[in-house]
Amino acid sequence: MPDPIDQVLAEAMAELVVVKSLSELELFRVKFLGSKGQIKGLMKLLGKVPQEQKPALGQRINYVNDTVNTAFEAKKLEFAGGLEDEGAAIDVTEPGHWPKTGRLHILMKVVDELTELFGRMGFAVASGPEVEDDFHNFVALNIPESHPARDPLDNFYLNREGMGTGAALERGNRLLRTQTSTVQIRVMETQKPPIRVVIPGRVYRPDTVDQTHLFMFHQLEALVVDRNVTMVDLKSTVMQFVKAYFGSETKVRFRPSFFPFTEPSAEVDVWFDDKGRWIELGGCGMVHPNVFKAVGIDPEIYGGWAFGFGIERIAMRKYGIDDIRHFVENDLRFLSQF
Ligand code: DAH
Repeated sequence: MPDPIDQVLAEAMAELVVVKSLSELELFRVKFLGSKGQIKGLMKLLGKVPQEQKPALGQRINYVNDTVNTAFEAKKLEFAGGLEDEGAAIDVTEPGHWPKTGRLHILMKVVDELTELFGRMGFAVASGPEVEDDFHNFVALNIPESHPARDPLDNFYLNREGMGTGAALERGNRLLRTQTSTVQIRVMETQKPPIRVVIPGRVYRPDTVDQTHLFMFHQLEALVVDRNVTMVDLKSTVMQFVKAYFGSETKVRFRPSFFPFTEPSAEVDVWFDDKGRWIELGGCGMVHPNVFKAVGIDPEIYGGWAFGFGIERIAMRKYGIDDIRHFVENDLRFLSQF
């Protein structure tokens, strides 16, 4: 018959090894170390042996008790680290850790607000490539070869290497588009009037960076092409937009201006209360007949208007941002305010 003391010790140590949680450990404690547990049960053996054997037997039982107890305490410490049984070790009174979630960049939020607002006025959203050819950036927009806007110093022209051969090269010089007006051409190449679109997008100009200039910024372009379109439609749409977006009291003014692709042309200014002066949002005008001719739309039948506004300017006016560089510096103290 196996020795009951050795048996309890072997069983206890074997069971402890497979204990996987604090609750299992408690069951183990009750079974072996509790007041009605198996080790206490061994004490009964003492009553069954002759007097002279009692001390030795007592020592053996004590040894089992100490060994199992020590192993039990060690196991308890393992769980106290919370590694193997998190559920049991959680302190529910401890303040939580908020997961850090990302958010839309303020400019993208403004783009969403603008396209949503113009969407309610019946405008669809269009887009086009940032790498353009000079047909879409200049020629079709009635900007002749000799025009200063085509100066290499005012444009990011791309190297012809790596641009492929054949059709790609025949379309002429490639550059990073300087204006979203390029997409007016792309839309009119693929859609028939009536057209009513807004085009948010990035544009690039080799400007020196300062408080109001970056070499990459965003524009919101609009194009309407239809029969019987007049300058009244242009002015009333722009004024409606400014008042809906910045507030009904906002002051707007139109200044006569020149753009090759519109005739007549104007610049739109919005009054900045905090700066105490007019800030230019961008240009607008009635689509020039030469632009229609470049895309095969008959200017005798159709008319149109367009505008191109700076989105950074709009965001700065709306949210009281005083330096355009904030948009690209990726400082979380700035970004997390919106
Ligand atoms: N493309 C012009 C610029 O970047 C802005 C502009 C002026 C856009 C008049 C237009 C327009 O659509 O009609 O300076």
